[in-house]
Amino acid sequence: MTGTQAYGEPWYWDNRYSNEPGPFDWYQKYPSLAPIINLYAPRSNPILVVGSGNSAFSEGMVDDGYTDVVNIDISSVVIEAMQNKYQDRPNLKYMTMDVRDMSPFGSGSFGAIIDKGTLDSILCGNNSRQHATKMLEEIWRVLKDKGVYILVTYGAPLYRMRLLRDSCSWTIKLHVIEKLASEDKSDNPVWELTKPVPLNDDGSAVDEVLGQNPDVHYIYICTKEII
Ligand SMILES: C[S@@+](CC[C@H](N)C(=O)[O-])C[C@H]1O[C@@H](n2cnc3c(N)ncnc32)[C@H](O)[C@@H]1O
Repeated sequence: MTGTQAYGEPWYWDNRYSNEPGPFDWYQKYPSLAPIINLYAPRSNPILVVGSGNSAFSEGMVDDGYTDVVNIDISSVVIEAMQNKYQDRPNLKYMTMDVRDMSPFGSGSFGAIIDKGTLDSILCGNNSRQHATKMLEEIWRVLKDKGVYILVTYGAPLYRMRLLRDSCSWTIKLHVIEKLASEDKSDNPVWELTKPVPLNDDGSAVDEVLGQNPDVHYIYICTKEII
């Protein structure tokens, strides 16, 4: 197994976290995404961060007034390190768990679930489609009705909409943020972060407003609406 294919494998992450204790944030850090998190994730509800790694994102949320942020990761190496690091922060909890089997959590436990790079990793591995479907079904189950799954990814609508639509009956909105949002870029972004991008099923509406292959990360806001 070579390259990014290993991102779907627990041993890869255990090795990586043993060698690189971090902290490291994939794609974006909390301050750049805070406006969108504040918009969709109420501070009063318990929040779940799936595949949290050693990122400082959840610490940023707690510093910003979130009171109950639960983090899971399949790598026990990183979870033990984070439990040690944050032993004096009761608002931040860390548990070793596979996002494809969150049976320790009851149905409807969380108001929001944040995924930054975890679905992307699972999509790199073997049998990726099957694993991704299991993950999305578990996310749907542990969300409350009207809860939101906030997916931060490099995957454009062409590569993510079908998967999301086929898994569960989400109501989906899309936002985008410039990659490596630097201070001068965020003064003049390609698209305003808190304004949803027009979205149709095959993603072609996004190309019309942003052009082809824009240099952005995509933020899918998937709401669980039981009809
Ligand atoms: C690309 S990293 C993102 C880490 C962090 N969310 C961030 O933004 O910096 C993907 C993370 O997903 C975790 N992961 C991979 N497969 C998983 C699974 N089945 N269940 C839970 N976590 C998983 C990895 O251990 C890794 O920490």
